[in-house]
Amino acid sequence: MHTSKILGTGHFVPDQVYTNQYMTTLFETSDQWITERTGIKERRIADPEKSEFPSTMAAQAAKMAIKNAGIDKNEIEMILFSSTMSDYNFPNSATLLQDLLEIENKCACIDLNAACTGWLYSLVMANSLIETGVYKNVLVIGSETTSSYNNWKDRSKSVLFGDGCGAIVLSRSDNSESKIHKSILSSDSSKKDDLIKRTGMARSPFFVDFESPDIVEMNGQVVFKSAVKTMAAQCATILDQTNVTKEEVDLFIPHQANMRIIEAVANRFDFPKEKVFINVQKYANTSSASIPLALSEAVEAGRLKRGNKLLLTAFGSGLTSGTVLLTY
Ligand code: ACO
Repeated sequence: MHTSKILGTGHFVPDQVYTNQYMTTLFETSDQWITERTGIKERRIADPEKSEFPSTMAAQAAKMAIKNAGIDKNEIEMILFSSTMSDYNFPNSATLLQDLLEIENKCACIDLNAACTGWLYSLVMANSLIETGVYKNVLVIGSETTSSYNNWKDRSKSVLFGDGCGAIVLSRSDNSESKIHKSILSSDSSKKDDLIKRTGMARSPFFVDFESPDIVEMNGQVVFKSAVKTMAAQCATILDQTNVTKEEVDLFIPHQANMRIIEAVANRFDFPKEKVFINVQKYANTSSASIPLALSEAVEAGRLKRGNKLLLTAFGSGLTSGTVLLTY
């Protein structure tokens, strides 16, 4: 069996900023309400006029990740692209990205949707393909334009989400201390209706009514409680299974959905706050982009160094969840 390491990281966010103050011009809300409930102060919103879509944002993030990895783009053997809303139904965004990056080796391209947990699912898939010797270098993307399905008349959900992208190059790492130690992936379909977007796909393909108050349907309190309980339990389990103590974990990057969820997970699992990476105040919930975006910022800020132990955990519609422990 081979092992894999995160060889390079990159990210991209649109320039356009929707502050909480701007949200008050769209509907009745306040900076105080949003800050107290979520910790979010602003979010980045893609501008279609500037051609900001999942694949084009990913091209920027991927160029940074490939440069930081120090490999040639044609050494990428697979693109795994996580998004809750690909550019088109087909071809997939991974293929569009191959074209934008001018990768000429005809590498495998696949999109994956496991909602906010999608990038962690993609990381685990990529790791399995590297461990079993199928590939040496996989580009793993989380890129989201949640604004493309956000209903800007719905104050209860639109304040929560934003757009952005994170990318990594995951590569074979034999003879290195860097490796993925353990992963947990899960999905609880009994709560599938608690966070669901029904329109725009096979069951209602041509009906997307942006005046509708319920494009995304969410039972916020069920999602909140399940998110805290599941992520905290998975973190405890993975440390137990690997005999790693929480003192040995150098950095914890939870899915950036909501400051209260992040704090509650850290408290429940009794994890020191200074080791928790948080950027939700700047970007809101960027769904499956949130962890790779935070990861890239953590590397850039010097908060994550080679040999550090990194704990990642995510949660989303499904209700999907996942946790990974790795040495960076
Ligand atoms: N501004 C002002 N008032 C608002 C707003 C807003 N933007 N949105 C809703 N309200 C109102 C509601 O209408 C309600 O009013 P009412 O009592 O008169 O009916 C009131 O605020 C309180 O609503 P609650 O549902 O009690 O608020 P709560 O404290 O549960 O917070 C929230 C809501 C922030 C959505 C919380 O439930 C939450 O964070 N849930 C998790 C959801 C989440 O993170 N989803 C993301 C996807 S899943 C994931 O990534 C983990």
